[in-house]
Amino acid sequence: MFKRFRRRRINPVLREMLTETTLNISDFIYPLFIRSGERIRNEIASMPDVFQLSIDEAIKECDELKKLGIKAIILFGIPDVKDSVGSEALDEHGIIARAVREIKNAHPDIFVVTDLCFCEYTDHGHCGVLNPKLQTVDNDITLKNLGAQAVVHAKAGADMIAPSGMMDGMISAIRSALDSANFEYLPIMSYSTKFASSFYGPFRDVAESAPSFGDRKSYQMNPANRREAIAESIADEEEGADILMVKPALAYLDIVREIKDNTTLPLAVYNVSGEYSMLKMAARAGVIDYEKVMMETMISFKRAGADIIISYHAKEVAKILQS
Ligand code: PBG
Repeated sequence: MFKRFRRRRINPVLREMLTETTLNISDFIYPLFIRSGERIRNEIASMPDVFQLSIDEAIKECDELKKLGIKAIILFGIPDVKDSVGSEALDEHGIIARAVREIKNAHPDIFVVTDLCFCEYTDHGHCGVLNPKLQTVDNDITLKNLGAQAVVHAKAGADMIAPSGMMDGMISAIRSALDSANFEYLPIMSYSTKFASSFYGPFRDVAESAPSFGDRKSYQMNPANRREAIAESIADEEEGADILMVKPALAYLDIVREIKDNTTLPLAVYNVSGEYSMLKMAARAGVIDYEKVMMETMISFKRAGADIIISYHAKEVAKILQS
């Protein structure tokens, strides 16, 4: 006697009926990289079909996203000037504040998430203010700046704040800064378990945010640590995060599942630049069926427990789901 699993696989209608996991375009958030200027659409060699956009182009891009059924974006800013503290990130007329204001003005129905971090804004490329003695980011001074940066985004009209700097205490600091400024209804999606990953390489070309010295291992997590990965996300839940995140996604699906099983909060995954570019380059080399491999990858995120998928593939996914 053995089990006949295949009995349920023969008829395609029944096979489809028994699908356990499905993708919906409303699961997706699409990342946009914004820089100053007009009519700018710079393609980045390491990320085919991903562009640095000026605000006017980002507004046009949102028209296309809406046609595809994509209603949520996450914004990254590329400032004109960088300095040691990342002052432009704290300026109400800085690139992200302007972008949020103008995009929300043109598209009130687009849900605008802002990545909250300093690495794109500092001349040293680290995610906060440096502590000269530690030779890395000073946690508690950076917390104050993160609170101020969150209020700048909130005042500009952001719909959700997504802190990605991996500072300890960042969620409490940002929550209390937002609450004091009367933004108690603005949700925080924390990059709660973010690994010090080499899969971010292509992003750093697009966002111009590679660290000028050292690496991010003193604040982002060791990829080898499973228990710590869960503790990081649970700590952010306790500090008041509304949504948790695991980043990168593909090489960390075990962590996605474990965090999902240890929280009642919704969980996002960030399908990062290196994951995206690997598929693009494999497609160019003719070694995979790109669309099928991409959709299989997306389903793996949902199956592992993701409620939200942040992905550069979102437009391609939308076209496939529509057809
Ligand atoms: C930090 C940030 C990074 C990414 C998202 N937010 C880069 C980093 O931590 O170095 C990476 C995203 C990707 O690789 O697609 N602001």
